[in-house]
Amino acid sequence: MEDLRTTTTLFFFFALLISAAKAADPCASQSDGSGVSVIPIYGKCSPFDKPKTGSLVDTVVNMASKDSERVRYLASLGAQKKVTSAPIASAQQLFNIANYVVRVTLGTPGQLMFMVLDTSYDAAWAPCSGCAGCSNATFSPNTSSTYGSLDCSVSQCSQARGLTCPATGSSPCLFNQSYGGDSSFSGTLVQDSLGLGNDVVPNYVFGCVSAISGGSTPPQGLLGLGRGPLSLLSQSGSLYSGVFSYCLPSFKSYYFSGSLKLGPSGQPKIIRTTPLLRNPHRPSLYYVNLTGVSIGRVLVPIAPELLAFDPNTGAGTIIDSGTVVTRFVQPVYTAIRDEFRNQVKGTFSSLGVFDTCFAASSEAVAPPVKLHFTGLDLTLPMENSLIHSSSGPLACLAMAAAPNNVNSVLNIIATLQQQNHRILFDVTNSLVGIARELCN
Ligand SMILES: *[C@@H]1O[C@H](CO)[C@@H](O)[C@H](O)[C@H]1NC(C)=O
Ligand SMILES: *[C@@H]1O[C@H](CO)[C@@H](O)[C@H](O)[C@H]1NC(C)=O
Ligand SMILES: *[C@@H]1O[C@H](CO)[C@@H](O)[C@H](O)[C@H]1NC(C)=O
Ligand SMILES: *[C@@H]1O[C@H](CO)[C@@H](O)[C@H](O)[C@H]1NC(C)=O
Repeated sequence: MEDLRTTTTLFFFFALLISAAKAADPCASQSDGSGVSVIPIYGKCSPFDKPKTGSLVDTVVNMASKDSERVRYLASLGAQKKVTSAPIASAQQLFNIANYVVRVTLGTPGQLMFMVLDTSYDAAWAPCSGCAGCSNATFSPNTSSTYGSLDCSVSQCSQARGLTCPATGSSPCLFNQSYGGDSSFSGTLVQDSLGLGNDVVPNYVFGCVSAISGGSTPPQGLLGLGRGPLSLLSQSGSLYSGVFSYCLPSFKSYYFSGSLKLGPSGQPKIIRTTPLLRNPHRPSLYYVNLTGVSIGRVLVPIAPELLAFDPNTGAGTIIDSGTVVTRFVQPVYTAIRDEFRNQVKGTFSSLGVFDTCFAASSEAVAPPVKLHFTGLDLTLPMENSLIHSSSGPLACLAMAAAPNNVNSVLNIIATLQQQNHRILFDVTNSLVGIARELCN
């Protein structure tokens, strides 16, 4: 009896210790087990180098200017008539874009890895041990008991490589992709357990990068949350029933992390939704039907064909976790901006990609921006529609047109506009839900 009591007391003592340790680690996964931390790349919980100088606004403005590469990449995807393969990685994806990272584990026992969260990309990859040119945060296959290599003949290999195998014998699924002229990276397609919060996805297929030559080195891996054949949703089978959601903390919330919740349990019970559209030519992208935009009480006059979903041209609107500021095709952005300027009045200046900056003293007169989707109107809180300069009393409309040199027909709802909202993707029922949630 006495023993039992001691044991029980000890048990509670250790349980308390464990929960205290959890509470004390704001970077750990959510305690309810259904969540994976989502961390701004420059946040405290992210291991990656923070910009040495400049304010947070400078950082965001700088990140937003790098969006052009990604917009170009997404636009080119949308425009492709026929996709025969999903190459394991594309240059822009891998090397320039890092917005939010998630904490996951690879292997058994699990090795902690930070991977970029990317809803417009299917595959995953990680820098592996011995990788020449990678940072030192690598996955070590030879200490994992569940690691396995893949032969070139498996279907995932042709999906990832877009290349045929050598004609004779068996060979590992090797890839070597060049980017930006004189740079390339190489590796093998492998499989191992992927740990997400309390869940384990066994035999998860990802690219194990073993060498990078030329160019800059990617410090982190990439976790594709698209919905094509190599994506996490496809590979996890029935585990998550085609459902996940995330809440992205503000870039300003240095100390905090949001959450990625996978599977139907733990999702908001009541949430407004809009249909999720599928473009068979580009199955990874999450298209929605944006039908209009209001500035204050004014519905901006936009020709419907500029917003219409068209699988053949790739036109329409996607929700993306890798672009920083929302981009509209040029005439749509111009119409929105003109109406916004019309209501704010005053004089306007530019800051980076933002062309509608004004004295913050008149912020009170800045009208709310409302996005109209089929069945769902989203009024953006000021934190999602304006960005404030640190150097002066300046606020900017935090959206932009597609870059001049990008012949884009795609509108992209980006992370600055999604912050502090829960975005729910239900691929099984073809729905996207959006609800305000403070996850700072
Ligand atoms: C694991 O691989 C690394 C790099 O390839 C090597 O240095 C190390 O000796 C290996 N360890 C074991 C236990 O095989
Ligand atoms: C990786 O490098 C950083 C600094 O470059 C160092 O602080 C850290 O301890 C290294 N980690 C490992 C596992 O070697
Ligand atoms: C990829 O292949 C090219 C051409 O064979 C080679 O020059 C390059 O070094 C390879 N890249 C890597 C990272 O191994
Ligand atoms: C998008 O909404 C418009 C306006 O309600 C409608 O005419 C159109 O059919 C919708 N498109 C799709 C693909 O649902």
